[in-house]
Amino acid sequence: MTDATSFRWWQQGIIYQIYPRSFCDTNADGVGDLPGILKKLDYLKWLGVHAVWISPVYPSPMADFGYDISDYTNIDSVFGTLQDFDRLLDAAHDRGIKVIVDLVPNHTSHLHPWFVSSRSSRRSPKRNWYIWRDPGPDGGPPNNWLSNFGGSAWTFDALTGQYYYHAYLAAQPDLNWRHKDVQEAMHNVMRFWLDRGVDGFRVDVIWHLVKDDRFRDNPPNRAYKPGEWPYKKLLATYTTDRPEVHDIIAGMRAVIDEYEDRLMIGEIYLPIERLVTYYGVAGDGCHLPFNFQLISISWNGLAIGSTIDAYEAALPPHGWPNWVLGNHDKSRIATRLGAKQARVAAMLLLTLRGTPTLYYGDELGMEDAAIPPEMLKDPWERNVPGLGLGRDPVRTPMQWNDSPHAGFSQVSPWLPVASDYRQRNVAGAQTDPYSLLSLYRALIGLRQTEPALNVGTFRRLEATTEVFSYIRQAGPRCFLIALNLSGKPAKVTYAESSIRGIICLSTCLDRDEERFDKQIELRPDEGIIGLLTN
Ligand code: NOJ
Repeated sequence: MTDATSFRWWQQGIIYQIYPRSFCDTNADGVGDLPGILKKLDYLKWLGVHAVWISPVYPSPMADFGYDISDYTNIDSVFGTLQDFDRLLDAAHDRGIKVIVDLVPNHTSHLHPWFVSSRSSRRSPKRNWYIWRDPGPDGGPPNNWLSNFGGSAWTFDALTGQYYYHAYLAAQPDLNWRHKDVQEAMHNVMRFWLDRGVDGFRVDVIWHLVKDDRFRDNPPNRAYKPGEWPYKKLLATYTTDRPEVHDIIAGMRAVIDEYEDRLMIGEIYLPIERLVTYYGVAGDGCHLPFNFQLISISWNGLAIGSTIDAYEAALPPHGWPNWVLGNHDKSRIATRLGAKQARVAAMLLLTLRGTPTLYYGDELGMEDAAIPPEMLKDPWERNVPGLGLGRDPVRTPMQWNDSPHAGFSQVSPWLPVASDYRQRNVAGAQTDPYSLLSLYRALIGLRQTEPALNVGTFRRLEATTEVFSYIRQAGPRCFLIALNLSGKPAKVTYAESSIRGIICLSTCLDRDEERFDKQIELRPDEGIIGLLTN
């Protein structure tokens, strides 16, 4: 029998990502802050999540909105103070909510004192903390490596006559992780936050940390089509997923393991067979290499089935699965699939085997918002315009109520509030038993009370394009989940005679107690969870 007590908190809990600039503003500057998160902890408790991951809140010139850090061991004044952070941590812990912070070890801000020193002279003791190279034979960049945010990944620095490497903006120089002092400095950053009591890290672009030591050109990507993200013109063979990265991760994991029960999540966009290598061997990798398959998958039963099969089959024996439905870099689920299938997606996320991660606002069905050109903020959109790469639409303020600025702030926020906030907000959805928010809460509640849905086994049944079904089981408790991925009614007949029982939750929220026996009639865009009764 599955004994739920033998699982770690991060295996049983649900992670909720907060993009702090957009969650709740308490000091009327239009930007969310730490006291704002504190103020909303009771909402998160009510929703039933077990951990929050907070995107970066460290001092930053905000060229990439906090992913360009100029001091790893402090809080940017726009978000509050270290005391605010401590208060938030205590208040979260008082409510049984764990706090995961973002760690951005791949690059610093160009204004970080380490880089300021590094660029000041070739003889600076920090020179080799970053990746400096002489110009290529033609005086141009040392090789063909591209920045994720457009153009060459190399920027020339006239003062010392060399180029430095940056996988993202020129304002985000990459650290040289081959340097022992860099490793030690970042380990100490980790200890600083672990000593304060954080429960873990989400490690930014962890698969980028090590680059080829021979600086070989990246090969062309023959599948690239004009109009796609220009970074994809080349395969990132020599700039990401280098074999040496696993030793670096093992070093970080060793720091995590100096403390009790802390978590390391890695941000990794790689195919499944490469992704799972980031679990490491014998517990020296990430506890959870983020699995973004649900973000990119074709939304049909066959594709979902084969993806889950491939993922489950590839997991190492010690690898605990996880699933992510959205984040601050990707189009929102309600926009990708539409409002109706967003309900089905919620049921899938919260009944799969593995830790679910939910992005703020997705529980309301927030959509990608239209951002007027004069309000664009994302440097990616500014550098590579017109390809739909910008992330502002998925970062708009949380919609708390129907008052001006959606209850997010007293003043005009840094990004506009989405126009649907009067109809779509927490206050309204909390009192509507049929809202997506009510569905999320019911799903989270059921997952938490039923070990079968949480840590139980997973077995999938035959899928069609329209319908995807599976069984979750712990001991005698056995559940059928059947999801209609289409907008048409679907009648499903199962071969197994044991598939009979009673519906305990439908995405329509009105079919409780209905019985089924080898057959279920699913309404358009409906998912159901049924308890099998034999
Ligand atoms: C990944 C983060 O999720 C993204 O928001 C950021 O722009 C890049 N890393 C660079 O840090």
